[in-house]
Amino acid sequence: MNLSIPSYFDYKKEDFTLTTAKIVYASMTGNNEEVASIIDEKLQDMGIQTDMSDITFSDVNEFSEYDIAFMVPYSYGEGELPDEALDFYEDLLEIDLTDKIFAVAGSGDVFYEDAYCITVDDFTKAFLKIGGIQAAESLKINLAPDLEDIENIEQFTEKAVNFYEANHK
Ligand SMILES: Cc1cc2nc3c(=O)[nH]c(=O)nc-3n(C[C@H](O)[C@H](O)[C@H](O)COP(=O)(O)O)c2cc1C
Repeated sequence: MNLSIPSYFDYKKEDFTLTTAKIVYASMTGNNEEVASIIDEKLQDMGIQTDMSDITFSDVNEFSEYDIAFMVPYSYGEGELPDEALDFYEDLLEIDLTDKIFAVAGSGDVFYEDAYCITVDDFTKAFLKIGGIQAAESLKINLAPDLEDIENIEQFTEKAVNFYEANHK
């Protein structure tokens, strides 16, 4: 009977590589910051190393340094991008994120009907345009997340991580 216990050196280096995720959010009254925090918490529960930042203090190039990119913008002005998202959006279209796994979620207001969460759609299209691979269907939340939304946000996050792990590990 072989009872040998594997030593530290029996593990390959890649077994210890942590999956990482960057979350960038834009939030004026707190709803999208809350959505981003729910994603962040779920990721941490799943053992993912995260970094979450406000769009105003974020650089698009940071996405390159992480395994999964999460974008969480609010929508404003019936289809216009939020002011503080304009530069970030333009910069995003200038970079190459070929094969970067991404997912977009965001809170808007159903009152805006056709423009409901339109910035979620804008960022989804932008990521696809620069070569990103969508890991989960974009998630739209009406105003502040309720209990059902929280569950949906957690499922969305889990799906994105599972997609990454199935395809890129
Ligand atoms: C002037 C104004 C314009 C807005 N335009 C839109 C819009 O076009 N589409 C949408 O879904 N929500 C729109 N909203 C609603 C916000 O996106 C929604 O309240 C969101 O939850 C705000 O997120 P935040 O709390 O993270 O700032 C608008 C809100 C304001 C005050």
